[in-house]
Amino acid sequence: MFAMRVLTLDVNGDQQETAAPDHWTLLEILRYRLGLTGSKQGCDKGDCGACTVMVTDADGQARSLNACILLLPQLHGKAVRTVEGVCGPD
Ligand code: FES
Repeated sequence: MFAMRVLTLDVNGDQQETAAPDHWTLLEILRYRLGLTGSKQGCDKGDCGACTVMVTDADGQARSLNACILLLPQLHGKAVRTVEGVCGPD
């Protein structure tokens, strides 16, 4: 049995509150908790880039990162922008 953690994430400019197991990646949260399926699950090990999101630090520095290898503690104080946040949900 895995512990669930309630978390608040800044995704596409909205504060999203959800609960997920500690070991889930950002990609799993985006797809299976928030319904944001624009970031794809390809290799699931950081090689293909199908899951790429933009992550902005508190100081405003933005980087593209692979969501499939990002764990929740790595996102503290950061904002995430997915393809839906760039192009809209359709
Ligand atoms: Fe391939 Fe994330 S799914 S890099």
